[in-house]
Amino acid sequence: MELERLKKEVIGEVETALNLQDLEAVRLKYLGRKQGIVTAMLKELALMNVEEKREKGPAIQQLRSDIESAISFREKEVGEGEFSGDITLPPIKPEIGHLNLITQTENEIRRIFEGMNFSIVEGPEIEEEKYNFDSLNIPADHPAREMWDTFWLKSEGKKKYLLRTHTSPVQIRYMEKHEPPFQIISPGRTFRYEATDATHETNFHQCEGLMVGKNISLANFKFVIEEFFRRFFAGKSVEVRFRSSYFPFVEPGVEVDVKLDNAKWLEMGGAGMVHPSVLSGVKYDPKEWQGFAFGFGIERLAMVKYGIPDARMFMSGDLKFIKKF
Ligand code: FA5
Repeated sequence: MELERLKKEVIGEVETALNLQDLEAVRLKYLGRKQGIVTAMLKELALMNVEEKREKGPAIQQLRSDIESAISFREKEVGEGEFSGDITLPPIKPEIGHLNLITQTENEIRRIFEGMNFSIVEGPEIEEEKYNFDSLNIPADHPAREMWDTFWLKSEGKKKYLLRTHTSPVQIRYMEKHEPPFQIISPGRTFRYEATDATHETNFHQCEGLMVGKNISLANFKFVIEEFFRRFFAGKSVEVRFRSSYFPFVEPGVEVDVKLDNAKWLEMGGAGMVHPSVLSGVKYDPKEWQGFAFGFGIERLAMVKYGIPDARMFMSGDLKFIKKF
């Protein structure tokens, strides 16, 4: 009984030892050659007569060997975490990456529109021809298809697939499943099969916006987009220009430009009132419901905000550029 209690006590001390030094102290306390508690018991045993030895010996021997194996087991556990280097050296900092400036900009856009009570929805990057073009009032033989140079993918039966050339198909996908009134944005990646230059990439990002309700007009769009710019360019006053333009899925259509520091205008996106035939295509009554839609280039917004001269820099992988933002 006495030995059992002792054993529990020793094992407890072994298991709570935090390092090799602590373990050595436990070993000396119980098994040390001069003052070890268990060693003393073994010494006493040596002086006993044969009968006593036979009676008490095995339990004490067992205790010693239990302690030894517990110590050597714990040695391995704490040994793995032991640091053998110079602890006075400064630690090596792990290199932590950060979000690309485009993602940061997209998050900022999401935050601002959320603050204006817009919901955020997402759509697929691999899109059906139907959503990218037809439902947006751009049938196969429409000359406006040439406004979007398209990466076509393999078709499946009658369904033709492509990499979406804009985020506008999300408008249709959303309206098919929801009833107005609502206000949404849909940011994401878009693709165009075109030559790249300082303001054009083959892979870029847009943010779509759509607000449908009763008595919505272009004046509502103007307010929302100017409020967005005011928040997005926080403090930096930007001049905005609305230019009349053509997109088959809106009527009337506008293009929105922002004045750059060098006094030149840069097109940020297209917009307009959702075309009545797009509304009736998703079974809304155009006499009852109106809406505005817009599609902005995220690269373009970031270029103006951060003074970036070339849209190709975002995805170039140039560490000097990446680390700056
Ligand atoms: C569209 O894509 C329309 N879907 C926008 C729209 C939505 C109009 C809703 C009406 C209603 P556009 O092709 O102009 O339009 O492109 C919109 C914006 O995307 C451009 O103003 C520009 O900021 C950006 N953009 C277009 N092509 C590129 C490109 N190759 N590289 C970088 N940004 C681009």
